[in-house]
Amino acid sequence: AREPVRSICCIGAGYVGGPTCAVIACQNPKIQVTVVDLDQARIDAWKSDHLPIFEPGLRDVVQFARDEQYSGHETRPPNLFFSTDIDSAIVSADLIFIAVNTPTKLVGQGAGSASDLAYVEAAARRIAEVSTSDKIVAQKSTVPCGTAHTLRHIFASVAQNSDVNFEILSNPEFLAEGTAIRDLLSPDRILIGSNTDRRALQAAERLADVYAAWVPRERILTVNCWSSELSKLAANCMLAQRISSINSLSAICEVTGADVDEVAQAVGQDTRIGSKMLKASAGFGGSCFKKDVLCLVYIAESYNLHEVALYWRRIVDINEYSKARFAKWIIQSLHNTLDRKKIAILGWAYKKDTGDTRESAAINVAGQLIAENAHVAVYDPEVRPDQIISDLTQHHNTDALAKKVSIHKNPYSACEGASAVVILTEWDEFKTDGLPSAVANVLDKEVLEVPLVSVPRRTSEDSRGSSERSWVRDDYSRDERSAENLAESPVFEPKTIPLRLCKK
Ligand code: UDX
Ligand code: ADP
Repeated sequence: AREPVRSICCIGAGYVGGPTCAVIACQNPKIQVTVVDLDQARIDAWKSDHLPIFEPGLRDVVQFARDEQYSGHETRPPNLFFSTDIDSAIVSADLIFIAVNTPTKLVGQGAGSASDLAYVEAAARRIAEVSTSDKIVAQKSTVPCGTAHTLRHIFASVAQNSDVNFEILSNPEFLAEGTAIRDLLSPDRILIGSNTDRRALQAAERLADVYAAWVPRERILTVNCWSSELSKLAANCMLAQRISSINSLSAICEVTGADVDEVAQAVGQDTRIGSKMLKASAGFGGSCFKKDVLCLVYIAESYNLHEVALYWRRIVDINEYSKARFAKWIIQSLHNTLDRKKIAILGWAYKKDTGDTRESAAINVAGQLIAENAHVAVYDPEVRPDQIISDLTQHHNTDALAKKVSIHKNPYSACEGASAVVILTEWDEFKTDGLPSAVANVLDKEVLEVPLVSVPRRTSEDSRGSSERSWVRDDYSRDERSAENLAESPVFEPKTIPLRLCKK
């Protein structure tokens, strides 16, 4: 019989490591799971009631595994821990996940497209340096193909103790933010890549046993490392490709009079195509799609497969075009001048149900509006004001921004006196019926009306924290006013992104 995994260490307490380990700990009460990170504030947050990331259902799962649970006479001792003591967690683990960030390289060879493996390498070196017993090392972050191979070299050259054996596995994560817990609890598949020698296959089986606690065996695929690494990239690239396809069709729809939602429905009803990931948008965002497509481009280039590289690069090009086209269309709708006009932006996260803003189309679109001298008034139910400011200050001078940006705690003050309201994240609260008349009341009457908005839920102060910046506006009184308006407001059919502004 295989030796069961008893102790797991996960290096990296981010969007991947945190939720994944919380679910693994919940489903495997006998396994001790310790998530470690260099970032003390992040670890402190994981130990508190204010988790560092917003993700539906995450808090329940974390609390279940992290805090002692009593039911009748029985207690469930905690088995999920968060720590900055990376070395101790490595030493006592028999399985280690590497779930650190792998951003696109900013300098050197492959800058702008290759993945930066510095964090992965640092984590691997640390494991090699401090381990005193055999380890299974499973790479979770999305990485270029061949990383497992590179890691084997690092372990071979750095490990101090030649008696310690490291089995390197590739175990990419397929969760999407906003639905992470659902995706983790019932994954379409679990992918484990390994070498094909006996020891490697046994390590893969031991990892598979961890998932088999709740995932049916037939959904756990064991493949070679290259297949595993390439499959993860391929899945994200093909998803991104569908979005760029529908967004390019949306440009055709706008000039021909076709309706892109109708086209998506008609096309998606073909069972060979399927209906998911066909929502036209201002462009995809998130930490993965752009980075992974560029990574595939880089791999193709490095094997001299220029046609292949060009093919995939167009997916990113179309995405940039989509964001630019959306901003241009707003500008044109406002008679080609935004000078001193206020534009309300509802939604800043790259998708609903997350506070994550990495690569969000909102950053790009707002930047284009600011460049036209507009004043942008931003509201998002989950993104913290300091995050919005930091997203914008990467591209703009802070002093100039203070005059051109305000951040609001409710959509009404964001919309007050606005020439246009632009919805950039499909939060449910912008979709339900009701808000149009309330917003219409605060809009600059002449210009544009919004067919797609709703009453926001009142957001709790504490989840947002307070910001001392003067550009953060807090005007809760409007909530009451809008509630009155709601009663007699007409019913609007909710539509999906992107919002189409229509003339009154
Ligand atoms: C993605 C993959 O879905 C997931 O499997 C992988 O592990 C990580 O990358 P994520 O980026 O979290 O997950 O979210 P996803 O739902 O895929 O959306 C990515 C972006 O595409 C968002 O900006 C979203 O708004 C946009 N999108 C999605 C569209 O524009 N249209 C769609 O139909 C779907
Ligand atoms: P992802 O979306 O891939 O989970 P995040 O950026 O959310 O990425 O999280 C990655 C985490 O990994 C960060 O919190 C970062 O501090 C942590 N990290 C990076 N390098 C190391 C390292 N060598 N040791 C421990 N933690 C690390």
